[in-house]
Amino acid sequence: MTERATSPLVLVGVTGCIAAYKACELVRALQRAGCRVKVVMTENATRFVGPTTFRALTGEPVAVSLWDEPAARVHHTSLAEEADVFAIVPATANVLAKLVVGRADDLLTTVALATEAPLVIAPAMNVHMWRAEPVRENVKALQARGAVVIEPGSGELACGDVGEGRLADLSVISEAILAEARRARDLEGVAVVVTAGPTREPIDPVRFIGNASSGKTGYAIAEEAARRGASVTLVSGPTALPDPFGVVTVRVQTAAQMAEAVEAVYGDADVVVASAAVADFRPARPYPDKQHKDDAGLVIELERTTDILAELGRRKDGRVLVGFAAETRDVLASARRKLEAKSLDLVVANDVSDPALGFASDDNRVWFVDEAGETQLPVMSKRVLARVLWDRVAASALDAAERRRERN
Ligand code: CTP
Repeated sequence: MTERATSPLVLVGVTGCIAAYKACELVRALQRAGCRVKVVMTENATRFVGPTTFRALTGEPVAVSLWDEPAARVHHTSLAEEADVFAIVPATANVLAKLVVGRADDLLTTVALATEAPLVIAPAMNVHMWRAEPVRENVKALQARGAVVIEPGSGELACGDVGEGRLADLSVISEAILAEARRARDLEGVAVVVTAGPTREPIDPVRFIGNASSGKTGYAIAEEAARRGASVTLVSGPTALPDPFGVVTVRVQTAAQMAEAVEAVYGDADVVVASAAVADFRPARPYPDKQHKDDAGLVIELERTTDILAELGRRKDGRVLVGFAAETRDVLASARRKLEAKSLDLVVANDVSDPALGFASDDNRVWFVDEAGETQLPVMSKRVLARVLWDRVAASALDAAERRRERN
């Protein structure tokens, strides 16, 4: 991972819209707030504001084409990598559509596809375009993926129409960008362990007891923590997901292996987020050979597995512990029981009886349950949930990291 300079780098993407000139003022506001700013423009944007203006404002080369001089050192991969926040201001309907489908036919959209940085998008367009069904759907799709979309304001538009579509107030846009910039590094120095996915407890060499956990939530949580600067170990049961970027991923099968892998990293951990759906029982004596249906009846005696999180709770020592409770009834009461029984700081509880939400779906509706009370969150993607979770525990995670440094 590249070494970060001290002030966050905001990459401002300017697209072809009459409001492009307002991006100049935005660049200034971000600089005043202590950000370094670089600008990437579409060809169409250059018809409204010249790259020279942004070059003068930022003191940096302004990237427009994928084929700019290599000497300018502003090709898409370096811009994508160094940006802490990518803010597209103003964003046209066309660029929104390209972001949704992942089309990368110019430098700006290529950077958008290549970057891991959070996206802040401030659309501006004619009122009828803004209200058009495809634009509404594109905005929703981008929000579901975690992009912050700053809705345009209402008023007289450049085309003479009156309605919503004007670029939002610059102060609102810059506040949103600064909030993302602060998040971009708020877990630096924090050591995180995340458990995710199901476990498989063997019955015989080809069969197992498992469950329907996809691992998506845990992977999103691990990835988000890494993006915000934490060093992250993900201990995962079998899933179909690729290893998250920037995360040390340890793959295991059984609850016992998961317990062992977590134990190996617990000593240096500040936060553990236990999102794995660990089997509570396993076959006491797995059959050494595959069982056949004409064998004399199948009897599986079960025994308890170690409760990994409860075990960690007994040796908490200043760490932050977050548990999950997937319930089909009495969601809050069960969550509170787990909070206390396992000495947790937070329980993320959800009702898995709704087939539209939970296990395999991309969306979730959860409660945060802690000592202070219960908060129900709106339906959100697992990716957005990961962000909200870290917003919630970032401060105590930093405190825990501080305590660990004092201990060592
Ligand atoms: N957990 C764990 N190790 C286990 C079982 C659960 O670490 N062997 C963790 C899960 O990752 C989750 C929380 O504990 O964070 C779930 O609590 P648990 O009481 O096990 O919930 P259920 O499995 O639903 O069990 P119960 O029947 O007690 O409600």
